[in-house]
Amino acid sequence: MKITVVGAGNVGATCADVIAQKELANEVVLLDIKENFAEGKALDIWQTAPVNLYDTRLTGSTNDFSKTANSDVVVITSGLPRKPGMSRDDLISTNAGIVKGVTENILKYSPNAIIIVVSNPLDVMTYCAYLSAKIDSKRVFGMAGVLDTARYRAFLAEELNCSPKDIQAVLMGGHGDTMVPLPRYTTVGGIPVTELISKEKLDAIIDRTKKGGGEIVNLLGTSAWYAPGASAAQMVEAVVRDQKRIFPVCAWLQGEYGFSNIYLGVPVKLGKNGIEQIIELKLNAEEKALLADSAKAVKEVMDALDAMNASVAK
Ligand code: LAC
Repeated sequence: MKITVVGAGNVGATCADVIAQKELANEVVLLDIKENFAEGKALDIWQTAPVNLYDTRLTGSTNDFSKTANSDVVVITSGLPRKPGMSRDDLISTNAGIVKGVTENILKYSPNAIIIVVSNPLDVMTYCAYLSAKIDSKRVFGMAGVLDTARYRAFLAEELNCSPKDIQAVLMGGHGDTMVPLPRYTTVGGIPVTELISKEKLDAIIDRTKKGGGEIVNLLGTSAWYAPGASAAQMVEAVVRDQKRIFPVCAWLQGEYGFSNIYLGVPVKLGKNGIEQIIELKLNAEEKALLADSAKAVKEVMDALDAMNASVAK
């Protein structure tokens, strides 16, 4: 098994580190455009192998995609992160060019790879990778819901003073402030969360979850990396170990939930073939309306990308 992580910034390096510590592959390649950067990060992470006791061999490469040849899974984290005051959508034009180039280069050397996109704005960059990849959408999907539910679950664990391990949750929609955490599908040790927490407190946690990425940007002056990196690695694990795990994932919809030709966060089953099933929940009217709002926000940015591509093509 071989895994490539493109982008050796904080998210990419954390993801490679977690992949190595979990021994998800014999070989992990970290690639970055910045001279010697991925080599340095990979070497540093590799030197933790004797301490953390794993065999996974990490190597770095400065933009030489031939080193990534025959990767089974590729995680794309490249692109600029947010600065305070920026929305994820402000990154669209710069990051679209980067994601397009990376996707084409990856598939040149690893035509059978499964691609997990982490770059922002997430839903639209996943769409961008899909347009460039021209492969089955089951093999091109985005990491957002695992991270967003992780934040939601962490906040709930804190509030309820219980183990985060016992909190299960579904969250849908785009990776932005319109995301839709679903309290009706949130349980704590099998108990509906609504039986354990007041509506007021739950609403505050949902609101904090929606702005969870921004909260970190405001604290650090740049975007988060530990939780995003670990979340992407958990999706890699589901694929390489064929775990058939159910996660919220940014997936290409063709009629599911009444949406078509859009990348949006929905619950899916992840296994060795990538997205093996999109799970359709029976949403109530309020949940449907929130999801429609979120889809509208994502579609606006997808349309902006389409307009940019059309003017380039002219
Ligand atoms: C976040 C960025 C990575 O949500 O989108 O932290």
